[in-house]
Amino acid sequence: MAKIVGAITTSHVPSIGGAIAKGLQQDPYWKPFFDGFPPVRDWLAKVRPDVVVLVYNDHGLNFFLDKMPTFAIGAAREYRNADEGWGIPTTQPFQGDPELSWHLIEQLVAEEFDIVSCQEMTVDHAFTLPMALCWPDQKWPVRTVPVVVNTVQAPLPSAARCYKLGKALARAIASWPKDERVVVMGTGGLSHQLDGERAGFINKEFDLQFMESMVSNPAWATKYSTLELVELSGTQGVELLNWVVARGMLPEKVRKQHANYHIPISNTATGMMLLEPAA
Ligand code: DHB
Ligand code: FE
Repeated sequence: MAKIVGAITTSHVPSIGGAIAKGLQQDPYWKPFFDGFPPVRDWLAKVRPDVVVLVYNDHGLNFFLDKMPTFAIGAAREYRNADEGWGIPTTQPFQGDPELSWHLIEQLVAEEFDIVSCQEMTVDHAFTLPMALCWPDQKWPVRTVPVVVNTVQAPLPSAARCYKLGKALARAIASWPKDERVVVMGTGGLSHQLDGERAGFINKEFDLQFMESMVSNPAWATKYSTLELVELSGTQGVELLNWVVARGMLPEKVRKQHANYHIPISNTATGMMLLEPAA
């Protein structure tokens, strides 16, 4: 039986890719952000996952505004990255796990989640950069399953729906007969707003409450509507919905192995957490 061994949640600001390319990890601007990751890498070396199920939002590389699924899952043999115009190097392709992907899609559709299944899919910075933060040599030692949540174009799925999606994904993984270790990732956030009158908006108080809720009160964010979450965290801060899905994939009780919070990287308040099932 497959087992979820933990969840890693992190911001995915594109300029992280530029900092990696230029080797700026020890630069005073970047150090407080990159310092969050060595404990995650130590943990990964210890748990040696077989598969990463990575929950993120696509920013226009794979889905554009003309076709925007609420939830989509990749079912390809391989996922390629491509130039999004941020001026950052593209990464090596990622190996997929089509068998596990189809199992997840079938189980979720049976549970009345109307998933878009993608036999071809490109992956953007929200997928590649968290992977590069975990495996800096970029020789990906895991198979991957991309889970895409629309946090981009209204109407967005509610936090309550995202939390339920996480729980359904956890049930689907638990029913996968292969004896494999699965790491969950949720990327995006925390508070940021890139456009409009509130461009530059950051809400530290809310971010820290949200991060605390990820440990002690996982359904906390579900009391808010998506519009309230946009108000509290910004038009792009609402990417935290990907964290809510990832958190839903862990049991009620978790252990916080590590966390980091730093303002700002680019326009974003960055957060990262490493959570393990408590028992
Ligand atoms: C930034 C943050 C994001 O999450 C993103 O997808 C693009 C840009 C930023 O802060 O620059
Ligand atoms: Fe983003």
